[in-house]
Amino acid sequence: MEKKNLDWENLDFSYKKTDKRFVANYHDGSWDEGTLTGDDTLVLSECAGVLQYSQSCFEGLKAYTTEDGHIVAFRPDMNAKRMEDSAKRLEMPAFPQEKFIDAVVRTVKANAAYVPPFGSGATLYIRPYMFATGPVIGVAPSDSYQFRIFTTPVGPYFKGGVHPLTLCVSDFDRAAPHGTGNIKAGLNYAMSLHAIVTAHKNGFNENMYLDAATRTKVEETGGANFIFVTKDNKVVTPKSDSILPSITRRSLLYIAKNYLGLEVEEREVPFEEVKDFAECGLCGTAAVISPVGKIVDHGKDICFPSGMQEMGPITKKLHDTLTGIQMGHLEAPKGWIKVIE
Ligand SMILES: Cc1ncc(COP(=O)(O)O)c(C=O)c1O
Repeated sequence: MEKKNLDWENLDFSYKKTDKRFVANYHDGSWDEGTLTGDDTLVLSECAGVLQYSQSCFEGLKAYTTEDGHIVAFRPDMNAKRMEDSAKRLEMPAFPQEKFIDAVVRTVKANAAYVPPFGSGATLYIRPYMFATGPVIGVAPSDSYQFRIFTTPVGPYFKGGVHPLTLCVSDFDRAAPHGTGNIKAGLNYAMSLHAIVTAHKNGFNENMYLDAATRTKVEETGGANFIFVTKDNKVVTPKSDSILPSITRRSLLYIAKNYLGLEVEEREVPFEEVKDFAECGLCGTAAVISPVGKIVDHGKDICFPSGMQEMGPITKKLHDTLTGIQMGHLEAPKGWIKVIE
């Protein structure tokens, strides 16, 4: 199969249409078989539940080429499960997990020409999503839904080297206690837009959100979980019912414990403690870990000893071990790498 002639190293993180996408519909209480289509548009009722009451959820994962030339995806079963959890919380019919994985495989295969070559640092981003298509005017769940997957090639995250991020402690909340912060609902992201635009205007890369109830505990950013490293090399991550259970974070904790022999703590993290950590990173599918150099709390700077030039040593070990597993240099735990072709 001949690859598309793209400038792989210089792709950014934006939508680029690829050849095929997967579409399945839910009507009369069941999902149809689904199919691949070349049509990247859709026609909806003006009263569709997604347009009126934002009944939608999504996932994000990536496919890439390993050194031995296989196209693989990283832990798609975890995305299938998380999307089921999101759907249930939003009163949507779950898309069966086996079918989700099969649809990921079919969509990536159909767009294999867009999977970046090994060594480019680029990946094929996979976006599964589901939304209410049936007309809804009283506030209620819809009775019909569409599940789709599209793919888009995206460039290396650390293009031109690592640049530790500067965060600000946000005055906005991301998620309420007992709300929807622990699922991947579109509505969580709509309401975070004003906060991120404000942070960017003020010169920050991202927001650090604190817990909405007491504003004393660290939650996450708009698109990544936190990992901290203590001065005696313990890996600490916030535990909260209102943060998204990041697949990258869960994978990194496993690696810290089982590959690097580090002590790991998943627990509440008081904001007061942040100044005492040696390293801080943001973890998610796109970057694996992005180092944080500085957090600004209403004019007061918290600077991590790892500085503004490079990743801290433990952050780097975690990053290199997970990318080593993803690329096939290191043996992966069973079930982490799904070979597509
Ligand atoms: C709010 C939020 N937290 C964390 C993450 C990281 O999750 P994952 O590692 O599964 O990509 C994401 C990205 O999906 C996110 O949107």
